[in-house]
Amino acid sequence: MAPPTSPLRRRARIPVTGAPTEDVPAPFAHNAEYEFARILDFYGIDWQYEPRTFPLRWARGHVSEAFSPDFYLPDLNLYVELTTLKPGLTAEKNRKMRLLKELYPEVNVIMLKKQDYLRLLAKYGYGPLSPGQVPDIDRVLITAHKLQQRVAELGAQISRDYAGKEPVLVGVLRGVICFIADLVRHVSVPTAVDLMAISSYDGNGSAAVRILKDLDENIKGRDVILVEDIVDTGMTLNHIIEYLNTKRPASIVVCTLLDKRARRIANVPLEYVGFEIPDEFVVGYGLDFQQRFRNLPFVAVLKHELLP
Ligand code: IMP
Repeated sequence: MAPPTSPLRRRARIPVTGAPTEDVPAPFAHNAEYEFARILDFYGIDWQYEPRTFPLRWARGHVSEAFSPDFYLPDLNLYVELTTLKPGLTAEKNRKMRLLKELYPEVNVIMLKKQDYLRLLAKYGYGPLSPGQVPDIDRVLITAHKLQQRVAELGAQISRDYAGKEPVLVGVLRGVICFIADLVRHVSVPTAVDLMAISSYDGNGSAAVRILKDLDENIKGRDVILVEDIVDTGMTLNHIIEYLNTKRPASIVVCTLLDKRARRIANVPLEYVGFEIPDEFVVGYGLDFQQRFRNLPFVAVLKHELLP
């Protein structure tokens, strides 16, 4: 089993206050840059500030003109130069951008106006959140890009491990919808897909699981991969595995997108894990809070104050 990818970032995040600010902290030269960095942080997009200077003109063996785009976004392999609306400055920047593109055709660079930020992020699959959803989200924990990368890795790993076999992927509704839909497209061995629905309830003080929709496939003698969105205490999973075992499959392993290991009570072995996450309530990519947020293309942390 490959080690799960940690979504935790190496670089310290700029605190996202959500409020406009007049103070521009180092290293930024303008408020617009600071604001852009905060938006990138909110969406979990890595960035570097002015990491590279491109020489544009030379005179007597020395660089006489150069250009340093404001940001580099490694995940998108994209340089971003922010513009203001001052016509004189924009014309000068346009000239430099043209030169840069001529001299360095392999470099992706764009000029971005403030009102274009969110459009750009939407284009790259980072949202934007609808205005009504923004206030409920603390931060993006795993970007759409990282989810897609990791799901592809899991699919490739399952395909290798099940070469020559024909497993059944069993998903547990409803949180798993996005994950299983993406995962199955990266599994290259013949595979069946089945879904079951359960409801967790607390009977006589002990959590139990009620089957709302059973499997349609007969799994007797078959290799089952139980696909879960998130394993928290592990109690739900434990009950489902016990139940599936009564149908006498040849084998059962678990593939979970998220593993909240810190809260584990029932120690269920997890064969495939997408990401280990901290003890936070997360939504998006199928996961809900009161049936909301399943449609977000990323996994985000819900604001603590919304939780009961
Ligand atoms: P467990 O039995 O404690 O492992 O709970 C697993 C179930 O709880 C998952 O299948 C989810 O439906 C739900 N759950 C646990 N943590 C979260 C979360 O952070 N966000 C959304 N649902 C969660």
